[in-house]
Amino acid sequence: MDAQALGNEITRVVHTADELAERINQIAKEIDIDYADLDQPLLLVGVLKGAVMVMADLARAVSIPVHMDWMAVSSYGSGTKSSGVVRIIKDLDIDLIGRHVLIVEDILDTGLTLSWLIKNLKSRGPKSIEVMTMLRKPEAVKVEVPTKYLGFDIPNEFVVGFGLDYAEQYRNLDSVAVLSPHVYQG
Ligand code: PRP
Repeated sequence: MDAQALGNEITRVVHTADELAERINQIAKEIDIDYADLDQPLLLVGVLKGAVMVMADLARAVSIPVHMDWMAVSSYGSGTKSSGVVRIIKDLDIDLIGRHVLIVEDILDTGLTLSWLIKNLKSRGPKSIEVMTMLRKPEAVKVEVPTKYLGFDIPNEFVVGFGLDYAEQYRNLDSVAVLSPHVYQG
């Protein structure tokens, strides 16, 4: 789905499909170099559901061998995400012992999800663990997360598309766009 199909449901496009693809290709080249000498496939860990698009594109853009696995997590507690308490809904299938792991995310907002996830995955004995996130909102960050690969910093606005949803909608928008307030304010 492209932004035109959404009419006034979005106010502006922040990054076009072409910009996202170009940035992912650049990052893929860095990954090819950084992980060139591995004696095993790099393990890409995608965080459902938002990371589906970036994972699919990044995995196809790299030239090194990769394995892919997925986690689904949910924040809970009062104010949902602000608690920083995360529950595993779906765990990895692959054992992390001795693996080189790259977590793949669509967005780093407060950073609470990723900081919890890094700690959790580190405890499983991987050889290395790094993060690639397509988007980051610097103004929203509460916990600094070491991010080896970053697509774009974006303003602290309600964005959808390229995996990001509002009430499960708009994940299939091919760009990243700001959602019109009238959509979520009713
Ligand atoms: C989004 C995103 C990250 C998290 C980032 O997931 O995919 O996992 O929020 O937020 P944080 O930095 O404030 O922790 P969400 O919980 O919306 O689930 P989804 O991927 O299924 O849409």
